[in-house]
Amino acid sequence: MNQIPHEHIESARRKLVKADRLVVFTGAGISAESGVPTYRGAGGLWKNFRAQDLATVAAFQRDPALVWGWYRSRRRALLDCQPNAAHQAIAEAAKERRLTLITQNVDGLHSLAGYNNPWELHGNIWREFCVECYHPVDRHAAWRDRTVEDEDAPLPKCPKCGGLLRPAIVWFGEQLDAHLLEQSFAAAEHCDAMIVIGTSGQVQPAAMLPILARRGGALVVEINLEPTPLTEYANYSLYAPAGEVLPRLLG
Ligand code: OAD
Ligand code: ZN
Repeated sequence: MNQIPHEHIESARRKLVKADRLVVFTGAGISAESGVPTYRGAGGLWKNFRAQDLATVAAFQRDPALVWGWYRSRRRALLDCQPNAAHQAIAEAAKERRLTLITQNVDGLHSLAGYNNPWELHGNIWREFCVECYHPVDRHAAWRDRTVEDEDAPLPKCPKCGGLLRPAIVWFGEQLDAHLLEQSFAAAEHCDAMIVIGTSGQVQPAAMLPILARRGGALVVEINLEPTPLTEYANYSLYAPAGEVLPRLLG
């Protein structure tokens, strides 16, 4: 934090205040200070688990119990994680000004911080849907009330048709929700400013959003611990933990 000159943050902050249409785009790094593992950094999930064994339709068809065991263990770990100052700064700012939040995160921490209805491009780990009839189920409240399912509990079944329920996560090889993606692209193209927080910028199509924003003439502010492939599209790059820098940027 000390390495970012105060003037640099202040200069970005003053420009953000003037932006009518602000988009905030987040990745796993914003939840790191809450104790949620990221995907690609040190201790990242894809360093310890093979995505193709756990986060694809083929993996789920092959061994739904293995996949459910992994998602249930991630849910259990998330019960101990609270939103941090960065999630809170976004939720607070949204009460005062127009702000669209687009996230790649599935952890639900933006909602828990009080931001109503973030656009969750990659789904939500607390939600499920039926593989037969697509009936949706939300388990967040139940798990927060500690009616947690053991990792080897029977597989969850659809209350409508008895079909198998799966996590409502966009797995590798799957398409993002077309309407949500279209809305997100439009928001990026037409925004005046975008703050890009804690994403390695390696997963498409989500990583296109900052590029579209910059091409559309928006101010792009990146917060990360290190440079990323998106850095070249940023007007400001702030290398510091999101929980430290974002409250100052949006304050
Ligand atoms: P990654 O794990 O790829 O990247 C996390 C980024 O956050 C890295 O660039 C870190 O440098 C940065 N970072 C870590 N701690 C930070 C902190 N305290 N403050 C600011 N930045 C920090 O996560 P994503 O880019 O979100 O998909 O990954 C994209 C998608 O890949 C995820 O949504 C997930 C994964 O497969 C699904 O779950 C479908
Ligand atoms: Zn069903």
